[in-house]
Amino acid sequence: MMATRCGSLTVQLLRCCTLMLVFAGLVAAAPTTRRFKWDVEYIMWAPDCQQSVMIGINGKFPGPTIEANAGDLISVEVTNSMHTEGLVIHWHGIRQIGTPWADGTAAISQCPINGGETFTYEFVADKPGTFFYHGHYGMQRAAGLYGSLIVNGTDQQKEPYADEYDGELNMLLSDWYHENVYAQAAGLDGKGKHWEWVGEPQTLLINGRGQFDCSLAIERDRKTCDRRKTDAYCKEGDKSERCELIRRSECGPFCEGTQCAPVVFDVEPGKTYRLRIASTTSLSALNVHVEGHKLTVVEADGNSVAPFEVDDIDIYSGESYSVLLKTDQRPQAYWISVGVRGRKPKTPNALAILKYTTSKSEWPAAVPPATPAWDNVTRSKEFTYKIKAREGTPRPPTTVDRRILMLNTQNYVDEHIKWAINHVTLSLPNTPYLGAYFYGVESVAFDAATESPDTFDRGYDIKKPPEAQAPAAQAETAVSNRVYKVANGTVVDVVLQNANALEAGVSESHPWHLHGHDFWVLGYGEGMYEHDRDFKKLDVTSPPLRNTVVLFPNGWTALRFVADNPGVWAFHCHIEPHLHLGMGVIIAEGMERLHELNVPKEAVMCGQATRAAVPLAPATSPSPPSP
Ligand code: C2O
Ligand code: CU
Repeated sequence: MMATRCGSLTVQLLRCCTLMLVFAGLVAAAPTTRRFKWDVEYIMWAPDCQQSVMIGINGKFPGPTIEANAGDLISVEVTNSMHTEGLVIHWHGIRQIGTPWADGTAAISQCPINGGETFTYEFVADKPGTFFYHGHYGMQRAAGLYGSLIVNGTDQQKEPYADEYDGELNMLLSDWYHENVYAQAAGLDGKGKHWEWVGEPQTLLINGRGQFDCSLAIERDRKTCDRRKTDAYCKEGDKSERCELIRRSECGPFCEGTQCAPVVFDVEPGKTYRLRIASTTSLSALNVHVEGHKLTVVEADGNSVAPFEVDDIDIYSGESYSVLLKTDQRPQAYWISVGVRGRKPKTPNALAILKYTTSKSEWPAAVPPATPAWDNVTRSKEFTYKIKAREGTPRPPTTVDRRILMLNTQNYVDEHIKWAINHVTLSLPNTPYLGAYFYGVESVAFDAATESPDTFDRGYDIKKPPEAQAPAAQAETAVSNRVYKVANGTVVDVVLQNANALEAGVSESHPWHLHGHDFWVLGYGEGMYEHDRDFKKLDVTSPPLRNTVVLFPNGWTALRFVADNPGVWAFHCHIEPHLHLGMGVIIAEGMERLHELNVPKEAVMCGQATRAAVPLAPATSPSPPSP
């Protein structure tokens, strides 16, 4: 199968992928069904040469790469073999048009799949692009539950840069903590002095591999990191399966079959490669630099952008890019360096190798390139502001039906630290919203009577911490599961407004991700958003479509979407511990048309839904939404 032949994460042979493209071109891709069967369970793995317990799929980490053509139906039969906890999988960037129950968000779009149970996700890969999937229950994403999802263009849905490259490379970026996610969650949930921040990750991973306490770049390390002989766990001569496994995973990055081997991309000279980069980090914002090569950005979150050339790219959790890279340099080995941005890094850069097939040496000769200074926000903004829609991309409607301002603050709630939007911090209900609406039990399932606020007190001083606000702007933070109800067809503008966190002088970046949609990014600004001044400056002629956008410290970000995809969608900060602390909102969209959809009972039949007798009405398909 194509996915197994060309899907190798470490090395994608040019020949293989060229063949695949030719093949795809000839067949002209009638949509097919891509079936996968996954068993999800805890495994012992050493992603950074240290044994950890992680969530694996079919016994491996990261999960298998899904590859499909635009228009294909993807069917993933998931069995939860983690016998003591629930499970869901979210397909990040897939809009789930007409299949909101397959979005994979626990307590929002579906009931968790219980231990021992099987659930089948079925959805259309609606358009080409670089996506990924990940756990969306508790902090399971940070426990390693993720993988790549690549949707290829077809004759019907051709990417405008499709003829500009000869081969593909894929990089899924993540960060890794040695402390398990239960300990992380317990710390975040702690009260008063028991509250504990997760801190910085120990290791950055490229395609699930990193090297803790050992650098590929240092000659000396390359020897000392070879732990083949110093086996701390097993006596020499012990040939048991367990010992063999430990040796394989903890013997360092250089022995055969090791799980933390460096990622090497073999490339032929004189070609152009499409390098796909997606980030599913728990916390870190990253920068990617390929030594000696320029990068031309062509895709962001599955949407074409007007091409521009850079030395390196910034990528926030939840974002994806494709860049074109020309192998026009001296035929040798080069570093790909990935470093932390926006937070004082305590995590060393991750390294991979770009190796020309004609290179005489295996290893790059130079020291790895430094990524930009972590606190150079200006540089990050410069990169982000360059992203504009490619000509021919749909433009946003110019009349707006509803405007929502969202103030992002960090607050104390009963001695717990939370993140809040317009003074509301999100806590999810036990009954998934989608099921509650489908079975008409929303009034007992969650706080359906209270509307989420569309704005906040304009006297709020975003440069000051919450407790330093004037009395009129002080507000109690509510812990709530209420939603934004949006009628089908509404054109919604959202302005995310950043503010000072709890500590004076601190404001953080937050990558906001919307489920069920792409939105147009209309603009960014510093300080407080003033509608009369700022609205007319928003870009409505070439705003890029995306599903994730960054909110810079002390600034604002404006976006627009058309609510034409009935479903209950999460809109949240993609930093895992921030979401855990309530940094998100729920959009219940087009609920008046929900009965037109076929919502499978097994997706949403739990909690209060089990008390409802019949769903609202029989199913017919709704008309397809615009982008
Ligand atoms: Cu990738 Cu709700 O997230
Ligand atoms: Cu955040």
